[in-house]
Amino acid sequence: MSGLAVIGSQWGDEGKGKIIDYLAGKADMVVRSQGGSNAGHTVAVNGRKHALHLIPSGVLNENTVNIVGNGVVFDPEGFFAEMDALESEGIPLGAVFVSDRAHLVFPYHRLLDGLYEKARGEGDIGTTGKGIGPAYMDKIERSGLRVCDMEDASSFRSRLEAQIERKNLVMERLFGAPPLDGEGIVGQYLGYAERLRPFVRDTGLLVHEALMAGRKVLFEGAQGSMLDIDLGTYPYVTSSHPVSGGFATGAGIGAGLIGEVIGVTKAYTTRVGKGPFVTELADGTGDRIREIGHEYGATTGRPRRCGWFDGVVVRYSARANNTSGLALTLLDVLGGFDELRLCKGYVRRGKRIEGFPASVDALAECEPEYEVLPGWKSDISGCRDFDGLPENAKGYVRAVEGITGVPVKIVSVGPDREQTIVRSEVFA
Ligand code: GDP
Ligand code: IMO
Ligand code: MG
Repeated sequence: MSGLAVIGSQWGDEGKGKIIDYLAGKADMVVRSQGGSNAGHTVAVNGRKHALHLIPSGVLNENTVNIVGNGVVFDPEGFFAEMDALESEGIPLGAVFVSDRAHLVFPYHRLLDGLYEKARGEGDIGTTGKGIGPAYMDKIERSGLRVCDMEDASSFRSRLEAQIERKNLVMERLFGAPPLDGEGIVGQYLGYAERLRPFVRDTGLLVHEALMAGRKVLFEGAQGSMLDIDLGTYPYVTSSHPVSGGFATGAGIGAGLIGEVIGVTKAYTTRVGKGPFVTELADGTGDRIREIGHEYGATTGRPRRCGWFDGVVVRYSARANNTSGLALTLLDVLGGFDELRLCKGYVRRGKRIEGFPASVDALAECEPEYEVLPGWKSDISGCRDFDGLPENAKGYVRAVEGITGVPVKIVSVGPDREQTIVRSEVFA
């Protein structure tokens, strides 16, 4: 009677989509509970890649019920574009339901995202521009509009008009920007309200009922622990809680109903957007990882910053999430290197530090302490069992376990469902 949470252990893009799609084959329900269209989860089926942003990664399994939970900031434009694209491919899809409590993203949130970023100048965060921060700002400020507010067209119209009037003041006074096309936005969203009706549910109830009935429920994290608004590298973070604790409120269930936590963890480290990155390789080795791993954003297309595996990050994330097992992804990308490095500790001002620094200024002063291991030469993308991996690849996996203190239960050696090695059954 407990759900399985799948979180990102690093700064996002760990391969959560691939692992969730793989596990979804055994799940009855997949639930997104935070973030929004800033996520880009790649699922490869029969060699074909699909990038999912708002729709849960269980959707390509036709027997899975997919839930967009109350903690998500929901952009109807993106949602329908994604639905249309998936349907046009003729793939049988699982059902999708959207929470009546989810906050709506409007065009002014996306516009303000860009304007705030521009105003930050050199201190910009490098957001995805999807309006995530401004939508969560309205939610926390208690002025946001939710999916349930779309039920009655005339009250939705007047609340949205009032909100547009307020946003026009901000746009004009803070940024000197032209006013919004209020009538256009209202008309567009009244159309979405009609189209969305069949998808809307009290999703907390659906998730709870599924768990009580002993169904297998998978909680799909977006972003990663280091992007958490409280626990990440603030202010270079997103505006939600991509940790297991956040999934309970974001799905509308009690925290005790989340049992096992799988931390999807890249065999190296990447980051998009700004902020300190202790093991970053701003050199030819980083470029080599980027090219072999196709490390370009699934949402924005930006090149990802690449670096060695950072065990301090993953150890910290394991503590924050109560991670019970890791899914180590993209191990195949590290093939062909003479030697590989794994960061096992940080040294700041000559002293080894405990835990993870709260301030990005302190983090920027940290130097990595590396364990150096020999690489392997062969292509491991065809391996399907752990024993079949080269000795040095097995040694690398064991080093990850040693540094993080968490068992590696799954090893991923390629983007496809089949390219998965299960060492210890999860969601049995
Ligand atoms: P997510 O946001 O955590 O779902 O990750 P992304 O989809 O943004 O980025 C992960 C990328 O790695 C995608 O292009 C996946 O298709 C790809 N991928 C996932 N697992 C593996 C793997 O084990 N090996 C390789 N080579 N690619 C992988
Ligand atoms: P998935 O789910 C990687 C990063 C952005 C930026 C910061 C804030 O694919 O792992 P935001 O638009 O959320 O206000 O941007 O967070 N970011 C991600 N990085 N993967 C993601 O999602 C991300 N979602 C947001 O690059 O640094
Ligand atoms: Mg991604």
